[in-house]
Amino acid sequence: MAEREIGFGVVGLGMGAGHARDIYDLPGARLVAVCDIDEERLHAVGDRYGARKYRDYDQMLEDPDVEVVSIALPSGMHAEAGIKAARAGKHIVVEKPIDIDLRKIDALIEAADKAGVKLSVVFQSRYHPLFRAIKQVIDSGRLGKLYGIHADLFWWREQSYYEDVKHGKWKGTWAMDGGGSLANQGIHTLDLVQWLGGPVESVMGYMGVFAHQIEAEDKVSAVLRFRNGAIGSINTTTAAWPGDGETLTIHGENGTIATSKSRDVLEIWKLRDDLDGSEEKEMLLRFGPGAAERQGVSSDPMALRLHGHQPIFADMIQAIRENRDPYITGRDGRVPVEIMLAIYESCRTGRAVRLPLG
Ligand SMILES: NC(=O)c1ccc[n+]([C@@H]2O[C@H](COP(=O)([O-])OP(=O)(O)OC[C@H]3O[C@@H](n4cnc5c(N)ncnc54)[C@H](O)[C@@H]3O)[C@@H](O)[C@H]2O)c1
Repeated sequence: MAEREIGFGVVGLGMGAGHARDIYDLPGARLVAVCDIDEERLHAVGDRYGARKYRDYDQMLEDPDVEVVSIALPSGMHAEAGIKAARAGKHIVVEKPIDIDLRKIDALIEAADKAGVKLSVVFQSRYHPLFRAIKQVIDSGRLGKLYGIHADLFWWREQSYYEDVKHGKWKGTWAMDGGGSLANQGIHTLDLVQWLGGPVESVMGYMGVFAHQIEAEDKVSAVLRFRNGAIGSINTTTAAWPGDGETLTIHGENGTIATSKSRDVLEIWKLRDDLDGSEEKEMLLRFGPGAAERQGVSSDPMALRLHGHQPIFADMIQAIRENRDPYITGRDGRVPVEIMLAIYESCRTGRAVRLPLG
């Protein structure tokens, strides 16, 4: 017997328009409703997928066919919208970062626990089979003692990106974006760094605003000390005209793994126990340069079937059906935000900041 479809509602139809598309295309999911105060976005997305259109979020929460709410509102609104969803008995998928304020995040986690609803956070890279393979190598001990994890995100954003008055001009603000290049673009990278490296003990950072008129930063450099002794570093910027990609390098006692400047493309897979280099060859074939083109859409066969944010929604559906935690929980989503806040505190005070905060 075919399993019942799970009904989704999406709020915030910038990135959320992508959520709507991914849910609409996903077997097992039904896009029931969409919500935005921007009528143009609301009608465009609602009409495209034949979904109910709500201008008022509270009204969408009253819709009994909406079982999961996917939140793609400005980052500083996430926890509040999530708490409302939890109180209405809806499961929650929330865009990164889960929110920008730890107290609000804790209130959201508590509200979801209390209501007995699932809470998941959008960190799509964690589902990517390349990053899962890297995580497996580190966790299995094959890399031996971890020495370092280093990530660079050298992106470019036009000033106009920060001037979107129609949608609240919230990007690059402390109050709604939680910061600039680190809080918005770099949070995925920071999440990967901490997910792979383990608990972070302390951080030290510098930030500046170089190429934009924004309140927060458009460039951060930070050094991280992991509890296991490894040293990490992260550089994030939206001031690297015309944009120069994103890289990740991990090295330990028994090898080095690195991605190239195109996100998710493997460059180095060197492990001492891969004596004949056969694993390196296979990994480069699956994930190295040209792999995506060779395989048509994506460098992984699984992702040929699931695109965009679909793995997150598919996981939420399974979590509901199996009554288990989602692959990335609210508590998981809190971790990179705490590290991000520690980095900003260090940037402001000029001192190393230890975790956990306060
Ligand atoms: N996972 C990713 O790779 C990824 C990529 C881009 C953005 N995001 C995240 O998605 C979120 C949204 O970012 P964006 O770039 O789409 O921003 P955006 O400003 O383009 O879109 C936000 C939308 O929310 C709507 N909105 C605001 N207040 C509302 C309310 N009270 N009720 C209903 N709708 C309301 C706005 O009208 C707007 O359409 C952010 O948290 C961002 O970090 C994630």
